[in-house]
Amino acid sequence: MTALLEVTDLCVDYSGLRAVDGLSISLAHGTIMGLIGPNGAGKTTTIDALCGFVPQVRGSILLDGHPIDSLPPHMRARAGLVRTFQSIELFVDLSVEENLLVATSTSRWWSPFVDAVAPRRHVHRDDVNLALDTVGLRSLATARPSDLSHGQRRLVGVARALASRPKLVLLDEPAAGLDPAETASLGQMLRNLPELGIAVLLVDHDMSLVLDVCDRLTVVDFGQVIASGVPMDVREDPSVISAYLGGGS
Ligand SMILES: Nc1ncnc2c1ncn2[C@@H]1O[C@H](COP(=O)(O)OP(=O)(O)O)[C@@H](O)[C@H]1O
Ligand SMILES: [Mg+2]
Repeated sequence: MTALLEVTDLCVDYSGLRAVDGLSISLAHGTIMGLIGPNGAGKTTTIDALCGFVPQVRGSILLDGHPIDSLPPHMRARAGLVRTFQSIELFVDLSVEENLLVATSTSRWWSPFVDAVAPRRHVHRDDVNLALDTVGLRSLATARPSDLSHGQRRLVGVARALASRPKLVLLDEPAAGLDPAETASLGQMLRNLPELGIAVLLVDHDMSLVLDVCDRLTVVDFGQVIASGVPMDVREDPSVISAYLGGGS
């Protein structure tokens, strides 16, 4: 069966620094893959490159068997590849549900902004409601981001990604700043996504979350894959222990 995401030999440079160095990953439909590694290992850059936010020097990216490397970011999102940001990036003047409505339109470049103030298609409301139910925030639909806790804002960022009904969501440190109870409910929610037809690439430092929810792990260091496999094997890998798990972060 064709992998949902097949990345081969991806390389990204920042003015002379090779931040991602020949990275290859294969993510199957209906699965959750963890992408872990020390600070500066190239995890966020990998997400940026997959979404087209930074140019790749080399490599190929197939989504469901189709090359997406030459598509601009919004076309990749329409193809079903969406991401969250490490820094959340909500629209502060919009309500929670308006923040999600911005994500749901696919018709014209201005439609997201129109739909944010006057949604016309009920299907969008359904998508938004499903996304809010998935993260458990339906009761806060009319709240503003400033009324929410940090953990709730992070979940709105995740819900906004889910509202576009992606095939694959790339989550950049969704548990950062969450308390243990919030992290546990995030984990529960992530485990439900494959049933909704949404696969996940999860970047996070919280090893208990990553080990708990991921079917497979890919470990990167200095932009290169140093180990990959099922969590049980990867956590025992000596190179992983010395590069990351033993590092205490
Ligand atoms: N915009 C940028 N310009 C220059 N260097 C960058 C930029 N973003 C990240 N880097 C560098 O690229 C490397 C990988 O960074 P990053 O992808 O953010 O790592 P991670 O998300 O794993 O912590 C680091 O050495 C970092 O300093
Ligand atoms: Mg990062």
